[in-house]
Amino acid sequence: MSTQPVDKVRLGDLADLKEAGTPIVMVTAYDHPSARLADESGVDIVFVGDSAANNVLGYPDTTPISMDEMIMLARAARRGTSRAFFLVDLPLGAFQVNDEEAVRNALRLVKEAGAEGVKLEGAGPMVARARAIATAGIPVMGHIGLTPQTASALGGFKAQGRTAAKARQLYTDALALQAAGCFAIVLEAVPAPVAARITEALRIPTIGIGAGPSCSGQVLVWHDLLGITQGHTPRFVKAFASVGDEIRRGLTAFAAEVRAGTFPAAEHTYRISDDELALFESEVAPGVLAGDDWL
Ligand code: KIV
Repeated sequence: MSTQPVDKVRLGDLADLKEAGTPIVMVTAYDHPSARLADESGVDIVFVGDSAANNVLGYPDTTPISMDEMIMLARAARRGTSRAFFLVDLPLGAFQVNDEEAVRNALRLVKEAGAEGVKLEGAGPMVARARAIATAGIPVMGHIGLTPQTASALGGFKAQGRTAAKARQLYTDALALQAAGCFAIVLEAVPAPVAARITEALRIPTIGIGAGPSCSGQVLVWHDLLGITQGHTPRFVKAFASVGDEIRRGLTAFAAEVRAGTFPAAEHTYRISDDELALFESEVAPGVLAGDDWL
């Protein structure tokens, strides 16, 4: 069986998609036009990830982005999202300190940015944060495996769960996040068989990024999947388009036509009637408006 929500993707639809074995499609978007394009393309979840930090704000990684920056980007993306479930990331520092701050910041994402759910990275003490947010009535998605906010503690941007002990830890973390009330869990950079086993063990969907085909859904970053990202990309990235090349082609053509004087052409300009033009010419004729006395 395959189901595809038509009007509006709600929380229950995501559970139904897992149940039906229909892969859930999630994509990041950080502004109004990209959210609108994602929404119109029929993705199930539009996600304002903290990867906005490096993808649109020019930070080296996700650690510096603030709640205020997330809210500004999310408000724009929210205005472009009508059908997809709208999910927003809690950035580093927004939830680690204690449960109260986690709930307060999750509420800000709901109230100020229109989030329908929030995501947080980590397990261990973060399980209590997820529980507090879920208890406050806010849908919360977990995120384990490679968690970029704490990449330095993980020894860098590396695949996780590659030993039996580490895979078992991920498995128990996933169960703990489910028990805490998460409605789904991102598995990032986890060996495919480990992700498959975790997915099988959970009632809630898993969303994979570098976690193989057996997850209940897949997420990629907008700039990666559209071929805008420059330089090295992780192994799990596939570029489905070459939008960066297309943008470069357009900008180069614009510059060339401006320099050649072929843009703007007649069809890009506004007209004025001959009478009005003649009147205007007479009013600015030499000697009529002399010097700057009239200013
Ligand atoms: O911020 C992000 O882009 C993420 C990924 C899981 C897509 O958290």
